[in-house]
Amino acid sequence: MMYGILFVVILLAVLLLVQNKKNQARYSRQYIEEEPSLLSSEQINLVRESWKRVLPIKEQAAELFYQRLFELDPDVKSLFKGRLDFQGDKLMTTLDVVVNSLDDLHEVEGMLQAMGRRHIIYGVEAAHYETVGAALLWVLAQGLGEHFTEEVEEAWVTAYGVIATTMKEAAYQ
Ligand code: HEM
Repeated sequence: MMYGILFVVILLAVLLLVQNKKNQARYSRQYIEEEPSLLSSEQINLVRESWKRVLPIKEQAAELFYQRLFELDPDVKSLFKGRLDFQGDKLMTTLDVVVNSLDDLHEVEGMLQAMGRRHIIYGVEAAHYETVGAALLWVLAQGLGEHFTEEVEEAWVTAYGVIATTMKEAAYQ
């Protein structure tokens, strides 16, 4: 009789544990799936529409970007070992991929994390992301002129923040 009760109690405990684990898995999965985008859909549109205006002048934009970056922090110039026009092209292509994935950043998360880790090898430090952000925003302001409204600026600050944070967190934690 005692063994019978003990058996039922243990069985119930095991069933409860299994149920609990299933719930945990379900809720954590739902949390990831339902994670709100850090940019509102309006901000995503603003970034995309403004980016379309920059794409036709991307070579000049990239050139201006490095000019501005080296003006803001002359020390980072020595980190760039290759040809700057090639590098500018890679930067623009990457930004284009991210801009196109803004409504599902999980798509590019792994790529950004890997890129963040590679940037340590190039000698990039976490603080450099501030300067690069400032140079990028400045170029956008030049390229977009009157289309660089406060809302557009804020949307880009948020978008760049997400990119930089993803890269930095993977690299420096
Ligand atoms: C939005 C953030 C950034 C993006 C999208 C980006 C993009 C890229 C890409 C696509 C490359 C080509 C190589 C690779 O994929 O690993 C690269 C290389 C490089 N990036 Fe970045 N980068 C970012 C931030 C930074 C920052 C903050 C710095 C600091 C100054 C930096 C400095 C460099 C350097 C030194 C290289 C190597 C260039 C060479 O070999 O000449 N990047 N970056």
